[in-house]
Amino acid sequence: MSYKDQIDLQRLPRHVAVIMDGNGRWAKGKGKLRVFGHHNGVLSVRDVVEGAGILGIEYLTLYTFSAENWSRPTFEVNAIMELLISTINKEINKLMENNVRLNAIGDLEQLPAKCHRELKNAIDRTSGNTGLVLTLALSYSSRREIVNAAKALALKVRSGELKPEDIDENTFEDNLYTGGMPNPELLIRTSGEYRISNYLLWQIAYAELYFTTKLWPDFRREDLYEAILDYQKRERRFGMTSEQVN
Ligand code: IPE
Ligand code: IPE
Ligand code: MG
Repeated sequence: MSYKDQIDLQRLPRHVAVIMDGNGRWAKGKGKLRVFGHHNGVLSVRDVVEGAGILGIEYLTLYTFSAENWSRPTFEVNAIMELLISTINKEINKLMENNVRLNAIGDLEQLPAKCHRELKNAIDRTSGNTGLVLTLALSYSSRREIVNAAKALALKVRSGELKPEDIDENTFEDNLYTGGMPNPELLIRTSGEYRISNYLLWQIAYAELYFTTKLWPDFRREDLYEAILDYQKRERRFGMTSEQVN
């Protein structure tokens, strides 16, 4: 039986977040430039997005480019930005066909103007779709997101729109880039790195973490299904005892 057939559709995670890591090592292993790995990583994105949609996942959030990634060599950064533009243009029809709504989180103003423009166009074009919400984290830093939320709340307090005593976890959460989205129940990281790298720090407070040594360009929907199956075997206790949750 395939992994997909074993998944309990009544207990799917609503939101799956992925740290797509290992493109550079994958390419290097084949004696190619790192950029070759990024190009092949797009094939994985396409397959996983389609696979998530077919299964009925509501939200898929992909760590595509971190705020820290701006420190990479200019050649690589430029290649990734070009790849982002060409991928959006190539995939937009497929997104429409599959009823996917595109979304982006991060410091999007930092992206090259053309990239930002194409991204916004694609987000607008897919805004009426009602299937999977595909969020790309771009120029994303979770700490910055949290600081920005604190700033936004401070401004609301200063203007009298909000009272300090009314600030709670919900108001705080509403002011994150992910405001309105459920928190991920499952976070997947590929490539055998066991860290979070400044990704969705607030949102993954109670996520199940799943690490695989597979490099991102080798990851396909079956691997996503395997991760979801693993997630479904876990007991999520939220501080309670096993007896309480059963
Ligand atoms: C992930 O792969 C893609 C991005 C961070 C843009 P890497 O480029 O980090 O690949 P490795 O980790 O160096 O193998
Ligand atoms: C995290 O991967 C960012 C993305 C996957 C886009 P990195 O490869 O940049 O993370 P570190 O630097 O190894 O922690
Ligand atoms: Mg990496």
